[in-house]
Amino acid sequence: MRRAVCPGSYDPATNGHLDIIERAANLFDEVVVAVLINKSKRGMFTIDERLELLRESTKGLSNVRIDSWHGLLTDYCRDNGIQSIVKGLRSVSDFDYELQMAQMNREISGVETLLMSNNPAYSFLSSSLVKEVATYGGDVTTMVSPYVHERLLAKLAEQD
Ligand code: PNS
Repeated sequence: MRRAVCPGSYDPATNGHLDIIERAANLFDEVVVAVLINKSKRGMFTIDERLELLRESTKGLSNVRIDSWHGLLTDYCRDNGIQSIVKGLRSVSDFDYELQMAQMNREISGVETLLMSNNPAYSFLSSSLVKEVATYGGDVTTMVSPYVHERLLAKLAEQD
């Protein structure tokens, strides 16, 4: 069984994330999308909400499962029989940090990282920018799945 993890904050998942998850699902027998919990970073969505958004947005992908984890990503990989980490690269500015993490993760565990080039249509996307644009009334319909869009608008309405 060839298993990979797509880790991230997913606050919330964007179409850029979903593109990488779908392409990883074509390459591996199973892909686990892991929401990494960072207690020092308060997000817009709770961890349970992020999991639900991901479950709903990936429900057409039969070999994808959604999970959360607090701690080292490589410990999660060890405990779940995962040999590879898959991340998307939007631009050269992502590269330095991703390379550093890939090398660190390999050094401490032997787990390999595959850096997949993002679909250029999504290279400007980030969860933070999507939230910021949506907060000020900008249109983000093409940037997130319909379900995430609906939940994002509902969350912003709650905050008003
Ligand atoms: O979506 P993000 O915030 O860019 O994802 C970064 C993430 C969560 C993948 C990264 O910070 C991570 O792997 N955190 C888990 C803790 C860990 O293993 N840190 C050592 C990284 S070398």
